[in-house]
Amino acid sequence: MDIAILGVGSLGEAVLIGLLESGMPPAQIWATAQPAERAAVLADAYGIEVGTDNASAATEADVVLVAVRPGAVEGVLDEIAPVLEGDAVVVSLAAGVPLRRIAARLPEGVTTVRAMTNVAARAREAATALTAPDGTDLTEIEDLFDRVGVTVTVEEPMMDLITAVGGSGPAFLFYLADAMTTAAVDGGMDPHAARVMVDQMLLGACLHLQSSDRPAAEILDDITTPGGTTAAALDVLNAAAVDDTVKRAVGAAARRGRDLARLTPPLARVRAAAPSPRPRRPRRRSPR
Ligand SMILES: NC(=O)c1ccc[n+]([C@@H]2O[C@H](COP(=O)([O-])OP(=O)(O)OC[C@H]3O[C@@H](n4cnc5c(N)ncnc54)[C@H](OP(=O)(O)O)[C@@H]3O)[C@@H](O)[C@H]2O)c1
Repeated sequence: MDIAILGVGSLGEAVLIGLLESGMPPAQIWATAQPAERAAVLADAYGIEVGTDNASAATEADVVLVAVRPGAVEGVLDEIAPVLEGDAVVVSLAAGVPLRRIAARLPEGVTTVRAMTNVAARAREAATALTAPDGTDLTEIEDLFDRVGVTVTVEEPMMDLITAVGGSGPAFLFYLADAMTTAAVDGGMDPHAARVMVDQMLLGACLHLQSSDRPAAEILDDITTPGGTTAAALDVLNAAAVDDTVKRAVGAAARRGRDLARLTPPLARVRAAAPSPRPRRPRRRSPR
């Protein structure tokens, strides 16, 4: 299966790294990035073909992952539509852009999918939600995203909430990690030691949570001794209604996803494709 990743930025690079780490041959991955200098850096770093011309990268790809920001998605679809083969699959990784808007830009017969994944794809630990029109066979796309983590299939109306929890979710933990590391450093700890300790604590806690059948609230109860240190910390978090703040943060991210769907202009600004920074290798189709 040949893959094109269009718009390799934060998320696209995470997915790219995860796919390569999963053993996908570099020769099966075609990518684009802006500007040409970044494309050249990515090509050198990962040993894959990276240019700035979306249509060229999408040519003959079996699966095209569109990883640009929401406002640029429809412009990129317009660029690639003329070169897509009838059996191509186009997967948008963008927040907010609905399937109907994606399909409207593509030739009839092309399969359209939305995937909400996250930057943990870099560590092959992403949580990815897929949605597609009724009756779409998602086996191939599930297999692709299973390479970079765990994949579920959902109905499209759930995608904004999933974007908030799954797509933006790592940011919540990075926020917590930063706050805890800062507290440790402010208390006099060596910054490197604080970073190592907080990172490992979060990793260990997440593995513990994942390996348990019990809900997080029960595990929390178990480790909270009345009058103990954890209870003292929770008293402060509860007094500040941090749980409610987290709910409101999730709500804000979900609303933003819905707004993006409304606000994304039908014809987004598309950058003029600069010439590819390096000679392209001849195309050949790999076995799917
Ligand atoms: N980041 C996340 O954690 C995350 C999580 C879930 C979903 N998403 C979704 O993933 C998408 C990308 O997010 P991101 O954070 O990775 O954004 P990003 O870092 O800005 O990546 C997008 C990349 O695409 C490039 N680009 C812009 N227009 C292009 C074009 N016409 N052709 C080729 N490349 C183009 C951008 O270059 P310039 O910077 O030069 O414009 C940038 O490098 C968004 O739609 C977002 O909703 C992101």
